[in-house]
Amino acid sequence: MVDVRRIRGGEGLDDINDELDEILDSVVENTRQATEAFFAAYDQNPDPKILAAWLQPRAWREIDYVFLLNEQIRRYGLAFERRHITLLAKQSFQEAEHYEMVGRAIESLGGKVPLSTPPEAKPWSDFLWDCLERHPLAAIAAWNCSETSASGSFEPTFRAGERHGFDEVVRIYKQIENDEKFHVGLGRQVLAAYAKTDTDREEILRAMRGMRDLAWKTFTPESVTQARSA
Ligand SMILES: [Fe+2]
Ligand SMILES: [Fe+2]
Repeated sequence: MVDVRRIRGGEGLDDINDELDEILDSVVENTRQATEAFFAAYDQNPDPKILAAWLQPRAWREIDYVFLLNEQIRRYGLAFERRHITLLAKQSFQEAEHYEMVGRAIESLGGKVPLSTPPEAKPWSDFLWDCLERHPLAAIAAWNCSETSASGSFEPTFRAGERHGFDEVVRIYKQIENDEKFHVGLGRQVLAAYAKTDTDREEILRAMRGMRDLAWKTFTPESVTQARSA
């Protein structure tokens, strides 16, 4: 994976880079373990509907990113350089493509694409929208943590997809994995470029820690198993 941690974009995160890396490493590892656990259980009972249910909150996260990114641009975009508006809009477009692709995968497995926030995605969504209200960089920090955490799910998903012959799901997530490298790098770059004050850095840390704590709860093997059987 591309090392986006020391990406050019400014020195705004220099004082907190080590703590950010610690948070990000822990969520990636947690998500990797939870995804392994989900597919280990799935191996015992490989029902496509279970995989469809697992993908539903993931589809919602894609479309919620579209709403969040567009609101981020509308509300705070003019304080950013024009190229950053363009890159955030490109990310938004790709998240819309992800919603479309994950939606197609859900339908191919016999499931329904969510049109409102699934209960298991609600705390995640509420936290992001709260961050967006609080500070111009907080939502970017929170979704950077969430998107980094998702990177821990790709390898176990590919291995399971190959075991079970879910070629469409694997194909879609390879594309998503590629786009996510750009999203994660962009988030870090924007944070480093515009964090100027200690308050900015505190808000970034608060958002990342909050998302880490949510990810720890959201992606535990238990919660994934619960969502699976819901
Ligand atoms: Fe996405
Ligand atoms: Fe993304």
